[in-house]
Amino acid sequence: MGDYRRLRVVEKHQETTDAYTFVLEPADGLPYPYESGQFATLIFKVNGKERRRAYSFSSAPGHDGLPAITVKRVANGEFSNYLIRNVHPGDELEALDALGQFTLKRVQPTDRQLFFVAGGSGITPVFSLLKTLLHQEQAPFITLFYATRSADNTIFKTTIDGWIARYPDRFQCIYLFSYDRHPDRPHLHAHLNNGLLEALIAQYGLFPTEALNFFLCAPEALMRMAEITLRYLGLGETQIHKEVYTPKPVDVHFLPEVNPAIRHRITTRGKKYNYEFEVFEGETILDGALRQGIILPYNCKAGVCTACTAQCTAGVVKMLYNGSQRIGKAGELVYTCIGYAESEGVDLKI
Ligand SMILES: Cc1cc2nc3c(=O)[nH]c(=O)nc-3n(C[C@H](O)[C@H](O)[C@H](O)COP(=O)(O)OP(=O)(O)OC[C@H]3O[C@@H](n4cnc5c(N)ncnc54)[C@H](O)[C@@H]3O)c2cc1C
Ligand code: FES
Repeated sequence: MGDYRRLRVVEKHQETTDAYTFVLEPADGLPYPYESGQFATLIFKVNGKERRRAYSFSSAPGHDGLPAITVKRVANGEFSNYLIRNVHPGDELEALDALGQFTLKRVQPTDRQLFFVAGGSGITPVFSLLKTLLHQEQAPFITLFYATRSADNTIFKTTIDGWIARYPDRFQCIYLFSYDRHPDRPHLHAHLNNGLLEALIAQYGLFPTEALNFFLCAPEALMRMAEITLRYLGLGETQIHKEVYTPKPVDVHFLPEVNPAIRHRITTRGKKYNYEFEVFEGETILDGALRQGIILPYNCKAGVCTACTAQCTAGVVKMLYNGSQRIGKAGELVYTCIGYAESEGVDLKI
């Protein structure tokens, strides 16, 4: 149950001292469709148990022949170190189909300028989105604020510098090096903070706030700071798009008690996920499915990565996220990893 794919590593390139790109080809010879900004979920087996990690595509369909992911080493991180040290061309990785909502579907016809705020390995999905946008004839003006430690540590810097030179009237990038005093403009030697972000938006924003759209992918503290600043500047929810790399585990204090005596029937439909099963009261739809060997798509199991997104077509789903609650009804998107059946007859399109 569930469709796992095998992806063969055909090339491995070093980007910086601690980041590598892996170019992948489907080992079964079938296409591996994905959109710019999406991610591959890699599946690792440890002592017979599955462990999952998401890696965004740094490639862009229509621009790069094969999908590629870029992995940055996390200090003491189990699988980022394993991939960088032990995975080489010819090796195969187990993966799910591409997932994710951090895509160009978020760009709206009214957008005149797109801002991207990237930090560290958060550049990966942004790089994929930028490649696609810059190769389109018509696209909004693009401004990238890219925070890294130093010029040497900046993933994809050579390509981005090439874009700055090639598309001066469509693209600008402001690097923020926290450790490096760099001689060239527009490089800044600074940590991005609320005041600086506000000043940069005032300096580089070409249009009124309503015509701006922000894509954020960076370490958690930077994302939080950027979102607070944007909200303070009056941007609405539909103008701020986030890809979170470091999901927090769900706080067990906020979880309901599981009661196997009360059960709810769930139906899932879609190209691959046609199932009918029961979940216990107090058990998430995903956990109920997995308990019965039904493998629905998931990654973080924490309500953050969007891998488990489903469209509710009937019934009501209650989503619990560390003390806060959101209700999903017919026609709305829900996350099965934090979603509980709140009514009978929950029907999901996955
Ligand atoms: C949607 C999504 C897309 C992602 N795309 C990419 C990508 O393109 N490139 C990439 O390199 N990573 C990406 N990640 C992060 C990646 O999935 C792993 O979390 C990361 O490689 C660490 O895994 P690990 O097994 O090495 O570390 P673990 O063994 O899981 O963790 C080790 C320690 O590091 C901390 N930690 C875990 N993840 C991070 C992190 N990302 N940054 C800082 N500290 C961390 C943990 O809290 C823990 O203390 C993405 C994550 C998500 C959810
Ligand atoms: S698995 Fe990540 S949001 Fe549900």
